[in-house]
Amino acid sequence: MNKTILCIGAGYVGGPTMAMIASKCPDYRITVVDINPQRIAAWNSDDLPIYEPGLDDLVRETRGKNLFFSTDVEGAIRDNDIIFVSVNTPTKTFGAGAGMAADLQYWEKTARQILENAQSSKIVIEKSTLPVRTALAMERILNSQANGISFDVLSNPEFLAEGSAIWDMENPDRVLIGSRETDRGRQARNAILEIYARWIPRERILTTNIWSSELSKLVANAFLAQRISSINTISALCEKTEADVAEVARAVGMDSRIGAKFLNASVGFGGSCFKKDILNLVYLCRFYGLEEVADYWERVVGINVYQQERFIMSMLTAMFNTLAGKRICLLGFAFKANTGDTRESPAIFIARRLAEEHAEVVISDPKALGNARLDLAKIDGVFHYREDPYEAAKGCHALAVMTEWDLYRSLDYEKIYEQMDKPAFIFDGRNILDHKRCFEIGFNVYPIGKPPLTHFEV
Ligand code: NAD
Ligand code: UGA
Repeated sequence: MNKTILCIGAGYVGGPTMAMIASKCPDYRITVVDINPQRIAAWNSDDLPIYEPGLDDLVRETRGKNLFFSTDVEGAIRDNDIIFVSVNTPTKTFGAGAGMAADLQYWEKTARQILENAQSSKIVIEKSTLPVRTALAMERILNSQANGISFDVLSNPEFLAEGSAIWDMENPDRVLIGSRETDRGRQARNAILEIYARWIPRERILTTNIWSSELSKLVANAFLAQRISSINTISALCEKTEADVAEVARAVGMDSRIGAKFLNASVGFGGSCFKKDILNLVYLCRFYGLEEVADYWERVVGINVYQQERFIMSMLTAMFNTLAGKRICLLGFAFKANTGDTRESPAIFIARRLAEEHAEVVISDPKALGNARLDLAKIDGVFHYREDPYEAAKGCHALAVMTEWDLYRSLDYEKIYEQMDKPAFIFDGRNILDHKRCFEIGFNVYPIGKPPLTHFEV
């Protein structure tokens, strides 16, 4: 095994992407390092730090053979000449650009660490999502010492979605590699292309200039989030007009120019990236003096807040304008199904707002209760945690579906209804339940973007 790869950052991206490369390229030795020793210990255990369908098998197949997790960042930099960097790039919380710009401190620290420890030339690959033109800063830092070592910086953004990460990496719509259009740039690009070409058809591997690659990642997330905000605005109009948002989405999405995906109206989008990447795009536009462009994209985030607030107002209005002392069960806390990740989950917003209304909140989720506890630790309110949805719903006045976990589609809602306070309500923030059936059982049902089904006289 003479080819080696290093990945700095063992998170939701670093761990799974490297496990996939290890599985597809058995002749490469792959090391994943992180400054967080607990995370590395978890990657080396039977209890991986993240839940992702298929990931356990992939790691079991490769770990200890050609995939290694370690905290020795410095040693690993010395030993590897191809370095992927997938450290976190959250929204800045301080100083200029707070709440908007990307916080690049982890990124820059990594660049300096590479420079300090490198004893041979390296290819450094941006796997993290970064503002356009970050590669230039990276190049300037890396090439700041005349030590005879050269660094080539590439952009190779990741497009996997959580919950389907393994499938996404195995069958990507495209892999994007951006490089400098120089001989060295092209050579570096080919070294990475060779890795992906092991399992991805060549026509799906796109090569572009480095700035297009960096920007495409931000734009892809912005477009995806924009579709959700667009359909969510229409859900509000549907609720006023007795149109059904699912029927509208279907009719609109069957136009092949529009396409059917990402048109599910919901309580709002969550996840660690949509909001942060759009805000980053907005910040960049403002930086370049493009105020109108910035305003346009900022509304996508604004509508997402509006949709979550609308959900709370619909609960409040339906439940006779007071939630104080009422017990509300949140079915799901993860930001989407098949993950334990709760970053920016709409459930956090809803739980906080319910607590502000002095409701008692019972949280149920098959994979995210640990993260839910951390998210709500600093929020004032009464929160209970019950993995079993039947236990969670007992004695509640309302159920609110926050995550589209399959298990919620097939619960025994008759049994749940019997053990709830009456009148009992369902607020389906994902439109996954059989609303007519729930209504027949006795629930007052409030979907998103569809007429409510209630037992009250109007
Ligand atoms: P994460 O927070 O799960 O993981 C990042 C890891 O980097 C952490 O474990 C952290 O300890 C480590 N780290 C930070 N500084 C370090 C340093 N100097 N040396 C070694 N390790 C260091 O983040 P993530 O979700 O994996 O996202 C990483 C990047 O990928 C972000 O830019 C994100 O926007 C992008 N991305 C994420 C997803 C996703 O689904 N989560 C998908 C596509 C792209
Ligand atoms: C998203 C993108 O889909 C990935 O391509 C990208 O790599 C990733 O962000 C990233 O950069 O981090 P992810 O956030 O993991 O992936 O999950 P999505 O499936 O995109 O869902 C995001 C949110 O939108 C979830 O809360 C989901 O429930 C919501 N959503 C999605 C809707 O409300 N309606 C839809 O029709 C689709």
